[in-house]
Amino acid sequence: MPSGYFAYLHDLLKQRSGLLVTPDKMYLLETRLMPVARKHGYRNLQELVDAMVAVPDEPLTVEVCEAMNTHESLFFRDQAPFEMFQETILPELLKRRAAQRRIRIWCAACATGQEPYSLAMILEQEVKRLEGWKVEIIATDISHSVLERAKEAVFSQFEVQRGLPMQYLVEHFKQEGEYWRLSRAIRDRVRFRPFNLLDDPRPLGRFDVVMCRNVLIYFDMETKTRVLHAISGAMAEDGVLFLGSSESTIGITEDFWPVEAGRGVYKRTDTPPSVAEQMN
Ligand SMILES: C[S@@+](CC[C@H](N)C(=O)[O-])C[C@H]1O[C@@H](n2cnc3c(N)ncnc32)[C@H](O)[C@@H]1O
Repeated sequence: MPSGYFAYLHDLLKQRSGLLVTPDKMYLLETRLMPVARKHGYRNLQELVDAMVAVPDEPLTVEVCEAMNTHESLFFRDQAPFEMFQETILPELLKRRAAQRRIRIWCAACATGQEPYSLAMILEQEVKRLEGWKVEIIATDISHSVLERAKEAVFSQFEVQRGLPMQYLVEHFKQEGEYWRLSRAIRDRVRFRPFNLLDDPRPLGRFDVVMCRNVLIYFDMETKTRVLHAISGAMAEDGVLFLGSSESTIGITEDFWPVEAGRGVYKRTDTPPSVAEQMN
């Protein structure tokens, strides 16, 4: 692809969703955008870009940006963060928030919903301890189409086989032909809404737990810093941040310190570590 066309797509994607496409990922532009080009009657990406430049077309621009996103997700992804949530973070919050009896969780790039629903299933398991508590899970993503899928909460056999313990499948899903529908009780624990991580998250309120997993990997350093800073501003002082297993705040921002970097768990730097945490 001629460099001017690549530069146009590179800048558009970085500006709109933070996605960094380096020249070695040119093939990704081809594989993901050619179906969009063909759907709109263009023979190649040059024709698609020419059309976008000639007449600004917001729905087409959104379609192009959405097509470039990776929506891969699975239930209880990496397992350890969810164990840590259930075994350490939630019990701590139940002590710390005993006066308010309210906990707010944000899944910041929730894709098709497996992550917030995994948390919701854990909460359902802890339902006795949570009696009289209000626990909110707000799940957001830039992509409207994945949010629609997430709200529908219907998963394929392949999707429920990846990471979901059998006990949860039996308890919370109903088979419908080749698909599995999640129960209303679990779905009702999660509220979905569109949100671009490049925007200010403070209107979403203050969160005790934020999961922002497997999305920072697609951003450049400047965008990672900006997004992490914005997230820290939307967190309670003693809030906990979960990142993906190949992501870290180290060397990117000093807004967080690693509680257990191996498990992707971080706290805001203005919260000093407890004695137990210092010994970790
Ligand atoms: C690989 S999925 C991660 C899903 C889930 N967090 C997990 O770890 O399984 C990345 C998600 O980030 C979303 N995303 C990409 N850029 C975004 C942005 N600027 N704001 C919000 N979401 C974004 C994509 O639409 C995609 O659904």
